[in-house]
Amino acid sequence: MLDSIPSETPPPNLHDLAEDHYFGANPPPKDLEKHIALAREFIDFHSAAGRRLVLVTSGGTTVPLEKQTVRFIDNFSAGTRGATSAEYFLEAGYAVLFLHRQFSLLPFSRHYSHATDCFLDFLREGPNGSVVARDEDAGRMLQVLRKYRSARDRHMFLDLPFVSISDYLHELRSIARLMQPLGPRGLLYLAAAVSDFFVPPERMSEHKIQSTNAVDSAPSNSKKSPSSDKGSDNEEETFDNFDSSPAVPRSKSLVVDLDPVPKFLKNLVEGWSPQGMIVSFKLETDPTILVHKARYSLDRYQHHLVIGNLLSTRKWEVVFVAPGSPDRWIRVPTPQQRRMSSSAGAGFDQPLDPKSLPEGEPEVEIEGLIIPAVGDLHTKYIEAFEARRRA
Ligand code: PMT
Repeated sequence: MLDSIPSETPPPNLHDLAEDHYFGANPPPKDLEKHIALAREFIDFHSAAGRRLVLVTSGGTTVPLEKQTVRFIDNFSAGTRGATSAEYFLEAGYAVLFLHRQFSLLPFSRHYSHATDCFLDFLREGPNGSVVARDEDAGRMLQVLRKYRSARDRHMFLDLPFVSISDYLHELRSIARLMQPLGPRGLLYLAAAVSDFFVPPERMSEHKIQSTNAVDSAPSNSKKSPSSDKGSDNEEETFDNFDSSPAVPRSKSLVVDLDPVPKFLKNLVEGWSPQGMIVSFKLETDPTILVHKARYSLDRYQHHLVIGNLLSTRKWEVVFVAPGSPDRWIRVPTPQQRRMSSSAGAGFDQPLDPKSLPEGEPEVEIEGLIIPAVGDLHTKYIEAFEARRRA
């Protein structure tokens, strides 16, 4: 009853209730405590040094269909944006906590782990059975290796992996809270491609979802139905042998019923990291709605910057949507962009037409333009915070 609540206790708001429910129902990843200990030590070290620290989230989150997971839903993200951004943040003097999808791209090693850039192709056999970099690659490799070693040796880089959507959210909440002592020097750069839908634990199968009813006829199964008895062993054998004969139809189709994942940006902004600067990404495929959706997200969650990008052009351009500022497009130079900027910018504040872009990857990494711009906004954010504190 409402009467029994003491008057000084504010009623829990919907965001808190959604948070309690989600985190209570979805178990944390098994390494969470270990990750928290590593993150705490890293954050405290840089906080004591008065350094800026960025949490970069990167890669896709899986949506398991079974508790003992055999099958899961995934998304396209390779972690290029996050891994590349992390390198430029290190270059800009930030300590980087890199929360990434396990086996997605990592800063520095990304140059040699791509499917088209197998690291073995950069090596050759040297004298006395040694392994050395090929002469034509050694210079660049040395530069990458030096940057990597410098980041590690100076304790400027910590990487922590996640797999599923609930792993990600548990890790994000814990790390964001640990970052509070950094105050405005903490930056959260949320580039991971986070699932919007999931199977809630109460509807998730414990074991591998079966593709036939054959298991219903197993002797140990007390729920055996008479109809599933008929010829089911035979059917299972047929399926296992990949026989697609229409005479033996598959007995089951799979309908997956997903719930929306609660958006926790509000909780992040107001509760987990009330002083840090928060940058989220907005990914769309339809150019006509990108800026609108980015602005909507900013208005709704009241954070500090949304970086909008389109799937097809994300390596060529992004748009910065920030409170009180006009939208700002950041582009790597293309022949088309040069032409457009010289023609007084007609249509320049519109997304590029993907068909107008050259084949292949841009020569310049767009993160090399994004990170200095984010860094400038972060400087202004810290200055405004300090000015408010002095006033
Ligand atoms: O890895 P790449 O291949 O290089 O691709 C990079 C990228 C396109 C994935 C990246 O640039 C990007 O756009 N990432 C964000 C994509 C995304 O998840 O957008 P969204 O509209 O679903 O979410 C917007 C924000 O809300 C995100 O910052 C996310 O952290 C947050 N969110 C999302 C879902 C959820 N349940 N809770 C959230 O808080």
